[in-house]
Amino acid sequence: MNDGDGVTRRGFVGTAGGAALLALAPRVVRAAATGGRRRYAIVGTGVRGIGMWGAPLVARYADVLEFVGLCDVNPLRVEVGRRAIGVECPTFTNLEEMLDRAKPDLLTVTTVDATHVDCIEEALARGVDVLTEKPMVTDEEQCRRVLAAERGSGRNIVVTFNYRYAPKHQKIKEILLSGEIGTVTSVDFSWYLDVHHGADYFRRWHRLRERSGSLWVHKATHHFDLVNWWLDADPVEVSALGSLRHYGSRGPFRHSNCRPCPHKERCAFHWDITKSPELVSLYVDCEKADGYLRDGCVFREDVNIPDTMNAIVRYSNGVSMSYSVNTFMPIEGYRVAFNGTKGRLEIRDYERQSWDVPAEPEMFVMANFGERRKVELEEAKGGHGGGDDVLRDLVFRGIDVPDYMRLPGSRAGAMSCLTGIAARKSMDEARPVRIAELVEV
Ligand SMILES: NC(=O)c1ccc[n+]([C@@H]2O[C@H](COP(=O)([O-])OP(=O)(O)OC[C@H]3O[C@@H](n4cnc5c(N)ncnc54)[C@H](O)[C@@H]3O)[C@@H](O)[C@H]2O)c1
Repeated sequence: MNDGDGVTRRGFVGTAGGAALLALAPRVVRAAATGGRRRYAIVGTGVRGIGMWGAPLVARYADVLEFVGLCDVNPLRVEVGRRAIGVECPTFTNLEEMLDRAKPDLLTVTTVDATHVDCIEEALARGVDVLTEKPMVTDEEQCRRVLAAERGSGRNIVVTFNYRYAPKHQKIKEILLSGEIGTVTSVDFSWYLDVHHGADYFRRWHRLRERSGSLWVHKATHHFDLVNWWLDADPVEVSALGSLRHYGSRGPFRHSNCRPCPHKERCAFHWDITKSPELVSLYVDCEKADGYLRDGCVFREDVNIPDTMNAIVRYSNGVSMSYSVNTFMPIEGYRVAFNGTKGRLEIRDYERQSWDVPAEPEMFVMANFGERRKVELEEAKGGHGGGDDVLRDLVFRGIDVPDYMRLPGSRAGAMSCLTGIAARKSMDEARPVRIAELVEV
């Protein structure tokens, strides 16, 4: 089946190992049922490795998993990470050594984005399944490498797109599948990062394109995956604009980082990491090993990613999307609307605002020539709108879910990253970029 514009969806599934993507969760469950536990390791013991794929697994999945190794290039952080996770397993600063000595059969990758590719390749080459954090890759060459590595390995990659598993995002999927708004023709999608969370990207390694791929990839991969999934379609072509308007060299003054900053009294973005004992032990106390400043200045000259982005994306089913990200807003959240032949589905979900109001996602289905229906949403519990808990249960317990909620694999990982990679290239080269010119599918 050809979905148009040269992107063959089924062909990609076949070559990228898509058919095998469901296998990871059942295998974990099978190990538990026979009394065995999967040998489990993590590379990258920062906040995500500890908080999402470390400590909660010790607490809730010890019957199906045995921690056999932790690895981080920072020798101090890997020890802090081990204590925070609460395990006694060996620690390593070299991934190959961990894979060879600890012999895990499942590796979670929670390193800096641009290093995922090397970790994934090393694991697959040794017959180890991979659970990788998003974004799977940060450029098209890495994408080709990962797909090729999986193809020859007989093992699986699962990409941890937790946003899909938030109940409100499932509700959107169900309404679209129901046909209530007819055939979707276009999508309006605006994502807002506030002056706290948005600024934090510019303090950390994310501010460097060579580490995060820019927010086009690091952040937007979540949103592009949601849209691919909601629409059940592939991106075909992307046109984009992006610029640095507020952070980095656009700032009025700067210093290396917040702690010693002479401008702290007058800087609205000043952030005192010493107020968090957890972050001090995970980052400040580990600075001497790698020089990484977790409270970096948002106005550093080396910021080389845009903070203001707009894109138009064309999809394989004829849908078009207008998409934007703004990173220094008084609100944190998004608005998304699906325009269809019979009506419109509209969601406003501001999880935080600068004034004192509760987070209240609002969802409406509006019928052409008809009424407006408010969609009742269940209260979200847990991280990322409730998505984190469901995702972990799906991976480690193989819970029953409808077909459209099965675990995303390398194909989904590739397609979401490629949308952002195409947007970045379009921004750089001032031309529309086709997905098919990035990765041969
Ligand atoms: N799905 C989500 O909602 C979500 C949320 C947060 C972070 N993430 C992802 O999780 C990953 C980790 O993010 P984080 O916030 O924990 O970052 P972090 O900076 O806190 O941790 C990254 C860790 O990786 C280590 N590292 C870097 N390169 C390495 C390598 N080659 N080998 C071994 N260790 C290496 C660093 O020393 C650091 O300890 C990123 O890919 C990020 O995009 C996903």
